[in-house]
Amino acid sequence: RKEIILPIRIAFVSLGCDKNLVDSEVMLGLLQKSGFALISDESQADVIVVNTCCFIQDAKEESIENILEMAQYKKTGHCKALIVTGCMAERYKEEILAEIPEVDGVVGTTGYEGIVEVVEEILKGKKIQKFADINIKIKEDYQRVLSTAGYFAYLKIAEGCDNKCTYCIIPQLRGSYRSRSIESLIKEAKALVNQGVKELILVAQDTTRYGIDLYGEKRLPQLLRELCKIEGLKWIRLLYCYPEEITDELIDVIAEEEKVCSYLDMPIQHANTSILKRMGRRSTREDLIHLINKLRKRIPDICLRTTLIVGFPGETDAEYEDLVQFVKEMKFDRLGVFTYSKEEGTAAAKMKGHISKKTKELRKDKIMKLQQSICEEKSAQCIGKTLEVIIDGKLPEENVYCGRTYRDAPEIDGMVFVNSDEELLSGDFIKVFIASANEYDLIGRIVDESGE
Ligand code: F3S
Repeated sequence: RKEIILPIRIAFVSLGCDKNLVDSEVMLGLLQKSGFALISDESQADVIVVNTCCFIQDAKEESIENILEMAQYKKTGHCKALIVTGCMAERYKEEILAEIPEVDGVVGTTGYEGIVEVVEEILKGKKIQKFADINIKIKEDYQRVLSTAGYFAYLKIAEGCDNKCTYCIIPQLRGSYRSRSIESLIKEAKALVNQGVKELILVAQDTTRYGIDLYGEKRLPQLLRELCKIEGLKWIRLLYCYPEEITDELIDVIAEEEKVCSYLDMPIQHANTSILKRMGRRSTREDLIHLINKLRKRIPDICLRTTLIVGFPGETDAEYEDLVQFVKEMKFDRLGVFTYSKEEGTAAAKMKGHISKKTKELRKDKIMKLQQSICEEKSAQCIGKTLEVIIDGKLPEENVYCGRTYRDAPEIDGMVFVNSDEELLSGDFIKVFIASANEYDLIGRIVDESGE
């Protein structure tokens, strides 16, 4: 008789931003390499890891809800170890262990590389806290398990943040800005492309500052040029660019390199100069207008995405209207709005003039409504054009596929719907003639190389 030892099963819940998702994928890689079985059904898992976020109130609530939901599997499922990792673990290490007794381990933002040992110790019956200096050098070489569909992947080019935005808690959780070397990024990008990745999405708290700590100068343009040389890679997309750090050299690379999408995510947060100053941002309203005009002139088909915060402490009606006017005039292609969240430990939390929740929500709704009509206009401008589309998947309806153009980052932007009798695979690139549109999505038909 042979006894069969089954591997320990681990399930993961990854919350928050795509930078956090990369950390989850690194942990998954380390666990898989050590012989653990990765599964998606939490009710069947022996170990559950919740990788958390806490940058605003809503994110904290979502993290707590998920931890509590997973804690239930200690009673109703197989769970023997519940581990909380990521930003909320870093911020509330003591509270989490003290207030949620089902939690067996907390791991900080730089402790995740030790996840295997944490799981092993907990399974021996220990309670574990694993934290390291938030400024430690980040590991360069690892094998991730991609949780994205396999044809696109995030590439985290740096950790931490040196900006001093007064509303933001993230530098206290993620430390100072630390770039990875160009060599390690190229090596990882090549490995991802060999696995089937066709679209790489560059992320960091601030992608535009890449290289400054390591090379004494910003090297994002050089990194992009090197990435473009990788055969098999089709698209490179840039997220989280700081307006102050967008140089002419970077604009040239986006304009000249075919693989770099004419797409720029540039969170400006506000457009009133006085609020920008109180937010600790370095741009003025005029600087922003100048930059946007420059980008559009040099890259006429550029798709600009931004995010805004409304209801910052002391935001007057006039300052808010200044922002509304800016949104009306600048016509971003994509735009998201957050209401200001008072985060203890930040400079803005101590400022005077906190705004009521109701006013903040009204201010957000008004801009979102305004943006909806701008998006409608922008989508209508795509009608009659033939655009390249990456296929994301098939809908339950017969022969209907969805995908994205260079104007759409996965999960945050719009989609393109097409009919095809021929089977298409996720990650296929096709040419689509756009026949109709609504505010966020496009509908089209496939055309062949000749445009027919
Ligand atoms: Fe949240 Fe941490 Fe990202 S606070 S937004 S998961 S860096």
